[in-house]
Amino acid sequence: MLTLGIETSCDDTSIALLEDETALLANVVSSQPVHTAYGGVVPELASRAHVSNILPIFERALAEAGVDAERIDLIGVTHAPGLAGSLLVGGAFAQGLALALDRPIVPVHHLEAHIVAILLERPDLELPALALVVSGGHTLLVHVREWRAYEVIGRTRDDAAGEAFDKVAKLLGLGFPGGPAIEREARAGNPRSIDFPRPMLASRDLDFSFSGLKTAVLQWIEGRDAADVAARRADVCAAFQAAVVEVLVEKSGQAAADLRVPTVILAGGVACNGALREAMRARVDDALVVWPAPVLCTDNGAMIARTAVLRRDEAVHPGEFDIHASLPFP
Ligand code: KG4
Ligand code: ZN
Repeated sequence: MLTLGIETSCDDTSIALLEDETALLANVVSSQPVHTAYGGVVPELASRAHVSNILPIFERALAEAGVDAERIDLIGVTHAPGLAGSLLVGGAFAQGLALALDRPIVPVHHLEAHIVAILLERPDLELPALALVVSGGHTLLVHVREWRAYEVIGRTRDDAAGEAFDKVAKLLGLGFPGGPAIEREARAGNPRSIDFPRPMLASRDLDFSFSGLKTAVLQWIEGRDAADVAARRADVCAAFQAAVVEVLVEKSGQAAADLRVPTVILAGGVACNGALREAMRARVDDALVVWPAPVLCTDNGAMIARTAVLRRDEAVHPGEFDIHASLPFP
């Protein structure tokens, strides 16, 4: 069975072709440099870029996979959550293709797909698991009892973890997306040199909050002159990253122990972060801590295709398909 996966929920246009459950024939991702100058995603520009990217990316995916469009059996596309104008581009493309090829569409929830991505590389992963989903728009702790049987047990009350990385990077003039830039800078800094707050660390629930930490960084910057800030940039990055990582790891470690799960899954763009990965392995010693390859952590069509396979019995006629800017975790 050949499944097409289409992802356009934010600022990455991506299309993948997946044979059966794990044979990834193509996974073409095109990020949009147009947002760099703004230090964040501009929705109107994102949807325009999806429109111009999507057909060439579809053709590149077919060429890389060495297949004709007629071979596609199933079409999976992100229907929620995300920027409405961006979701519409992928959704309308999927509808047109599904009508032309007479194939069904599986609507895929983007956040479930971030977790399911791990199945592409570890099809035999032991469940139940705890999944920490850390992306640009979301921070969730999910109890994965079985595939398709989830319970959200923690979430951010304000900014997402990735959003905090992006905003702090913007404050420091490090460009967008901020996560990779902060991680790079942090390597030269001392994480203990500045004592940023660990929001919600002491609270007994599993919720997160990152907007106060971002404000603490802003206040630290505003209290100094530009040259001082520039000279201490690596320290700020290291100390900020350490604060985010400590909260994520502590809450995940607590949840993994309470639930006694054999597996902890890191998912979403922030799961690329080396400091987070190492700290999680160090904190969680009675469960296997896993994460997908970096290209499967950030937004990609492969995770959408794999989730479509998982939910192929929920396929709809293209005329029934719709998008949702927000939709609860399935
Ligand atoms: O999952 P993703 O590609 O898109 C969303 O669904 O939002 O995640 C993107 C986020 C961005 O906020 C980006 O700064 C962050 O993931 N990110 C990182 C790293 N690589 C990407 N954050 C920290 N460290 C990284 N190495
Ligand atoms: Zn994402």
